[in-house]
Amino acid sequence: MSVNKIMVIGAGQMGSGIAQVCAAAGYTVLLNDLKQEFVDRGLGIINKNLSRQVSKEKMTAEQMEEVLSHLTPSTDLNDAKDVDLVIEAAVENMEIKSKIFSQLDSIAPAHAILASNTSSLPITEIAAVTNRPEKVIGMHFMNPVPVMKLVEIIRGLATTDEVYQTIEDITKKLNKVPVEVNDFPGFVSNRILMPMINEAIYTLYEGVATKEAIDEVMKLGMNHPMGPLTLADFIGLDTCLYIMETLHEGFGDTKYRPCPLLRKYVKAGWLGRKTGRGFYVYE
Ligand code: CAA
Repeated sequence: MSVNKIMVIGAGQMGSGIAQVCAAAGYTVLLNDLKQEFVDRGLGIINKNLSRQVSKEKMTAEQMEEVLSHLTPSTDLNDAKDVDLVIEAAVENMEIKSKIFSQLDSIAPAHAILASNTSSLPITEIAAVTNRPEKVIGMHFMNPVPVMKLVEIIRGLATTDEVYQTIEDITKKLNKVPVEVNDFPGFVSNRILMPMINEAIYTLYEGVATKEAIDEVMKLGMNHPMGPLTLADFIGLDTCLYIMETLHEGFGDTKYRPCPLLRKYVKAGWLGRKTGRGFYVYE
């Protein structure tokens, strides 16, 4: 199946990164969000990333202009009327995603694939609100999108082999590495990553070591690029809590219970880097 035009829904950190890599691979990209100011902010992130590449001489100014020329802002879901693929990267909320997918199903052409960048919500449930569950799939990018190689591709219960293959081919064209997984809570990435982060928070909560010591152990002892508490701040503590709750509810197993300290920080509005404070303080 040939894909030329892609709509990315959500111009936040993930959506803008996805739009950037799609534009860099030569696709025509619509970057959609609810308001023009959100789209502008997303385009600003892309501009900053590309300018950094130019200043490091990893890209020429002409190449940067070429990438930008593939991007068109959008604040209307009806713009999906002639796209071949939608990649949804809106907030992690089932109600909102269901609404978006149900609208998209009536707007996008019959051949279009509807993908979600959800980090843990069930693809099968998202697909069920559409009349094309066989064309719904998970395309889970990692943060920061322009740097991280992995795209976890999640097959919903009804996803066809043809749709899977198309998404795998596109992922390779984005210069990323596709890994196929089935649709269970947290998929593979967050089923393994989040309990580790949650355990690091328990280790802090129980006074086993300071936050700096916990991060240092995992960085120097396990060669992780960031310690788990720094990484939690980077991902967002609200997202970490949401994923732990999805695992806890989805498996019904107490081993996934979110640490009370994580809940407390989220209730306090200490969400990590994005709010200037999480386990660490950011200027
Ligand atoms: N956007 C774009 N590019 C970025 C970036 C960002 N936010 N942050 C860093 N970069 C680029 C830099 O420009 C630099 O590029 P070049 O090599 O071309 O010069 C490169 O990344 C390395 O950056 P730095 O040297 O500044 O810093 P670093 O070596 O410490 O790397 C990092 C930064 C890539 C973020 C690294 O710390 C890292 O890999 N951290 C772990 C990230 C991780 O685990 N991500 C997954 C999170 S989980 C997730 O996303 C899924 C989920 O569902 C929750």
